[in-house]
Amino acid sequence: MSATWAPDSWRKFPVMQMPEYTDLEKLKTVEARLAGFPPLVFAGEARKLKRKLANVAAGKGFLLQGGDCAESFAEHSADNIRDFFRVFLQMSVVLTFAGGQPIVKVGRIAGQFAKPRSTPTETIDGVEYPIYRGDIVNDAEATVEGRRPDPERQIMAYRQSAATLNLLRAFAQGGYANLEHVHKWTLGNLKDSPASEQYQAVADRITETLGFMRACGITAETAPQMRTTDFFTSHEALLLGYEQAMTRVDSTSGDYYATSGHMIWVGDRTRQLDHAHIEFARGVKNPIGLKCGPSLKPDELIKLIDILNPENEPGRLTLIARFGADKVEKHLPDLIRAVKREGRVVVWSCDPMHGNTIKATSGYKTRPFEAIMTEVRRFMGVHQAEGTHAGGVHVEMTGKDVTECTGGLRALRDEDLNDRYHTFCDPRLNAAQALELSFLVADELKKEMASRPKTWVDEEAAEAAE
Ligand code: PEP
Ligand code: CO
Repeated sequence: MSATWAPDSWRKFPVMQMPEYTDLEKLKTVEARLAGFPPLVFAGEARKLKRKLANVAAGKGFLLQGGDCAESFAEHSADNIRDFFRVFLQMSVVLTFAGGQPIVKVGRIAGQFAKPRSTPTETIDGVEYPIYRGDIVNDAEATVEGRRPDPERQIMAYRQSAATLNLLRAFAQGGYANLEHVHKWTLGNLKDSPASEQYQAVADRITETLGFMRACGITAETAPQMRTTDFFTSHEALLLGYEQAMTRVDSTSGDYYATSGHMIWVGDRTRQLDHAHIEFARGVKNPIGLKCGPSLKPDELIKLIDILNPENEPGRLTLIARFGADKVEKHLPDLIRAVKREGRVVVWSCDPMHGNTIKATSGYKTRPFEAIMTEVRRFMGVHQAEGTHAGGVHVEMTGKDVTECTGGLRALRDEDLNDRYHTFCDPRLNAAQALELSFLVADELKKEMASRPKTWVDEEAAEAAE
């Protein structure tokens, strides 16, 4: 890494996963236009998220990060955004209640458009096409014209992100997040789904608690916390030309921030120490995520942390473990120990999706719900054994009733996948599966809370009483 960083310093480094644009003049023009557009998010908001994540790193909170694998232009609608947000809030209420910790809510949304792929091209019926790299780059449909990377799509992605964010801000602040309503939706969902006494019992206790609070005079009318929520956006900072154009100097601190989203992450395929994506990420002050897959060695992770968080700032770095149910217990302990030994402050989050993708006999890419849950349980088990805080989950999900991951309470089967398989990239949890996951994670969180050393619990109580 060179000592001086600039929004364009990544251009001097080898770079992976970038589209091959043919019209470079047009690309330049688009990037210059983007650089003149208003920021999507503000530095102060990114700092607020960082403070919340610093609490998570200290064991006082839990990160819920989720959304589409890839947002698409075709499916941009108020209904989709609302349905996602609704389930996301429901998950967060279940987690807050069971874990007794604040939930930091971060969507994979309003900017999650660019996808890393395993091959640069694909051959269909004997014709070789450039691979689909997300709507910000090219079209999912395999035609020669559609698959050609088109810079103009970056403008579309920016405008869609702005519109999505606008609606999300209204939902989060305008009353839609009212705790009592959110809980009523959950009760409705449980009524419609195959009986689960365990979830119903949790839901009943939330009902009771809300009733008690109401009786004490704490309602959406009297307490703004009951009707609003903080919601943040995130995406993989993959398309670096776009990210560079959206990078701005914050006038209060003089620091650079990515204004394309509150949090950005570096993917498992682009986290090479001496490459462009790490160079870009190190210079912006946002909270940063780093995907950690099976090929990541402990010493390499420490070097990455040296680069991405040299001052060991709490909340700056979230490590997103994505190993697969059968690999997490093998790889995660060594990484946790290295981080602990070096005294690095991080949030540990679990992405139980990307290491559990399989090809179903029907030919569809799917993820068995059982494998997803097994990875989460094992991730949390490893943290308990190491005495560290399992700080979050990172999931691909939608608010719609799609059929992309098998299993769950409704026992979606292989042969059901064809019904509503709508994803533009990886298979997502549907609304019912996402809610179910939150009940299961809540259960694990409760176990962690119960097993905490008493001194820790006392300290927290003392702090709260101050
Ligand atoms: C993703 O989050 O969509 C993704 C591609 O993940 P990973 O980099 O972990 O493979
Ligand atoms: Co994905």
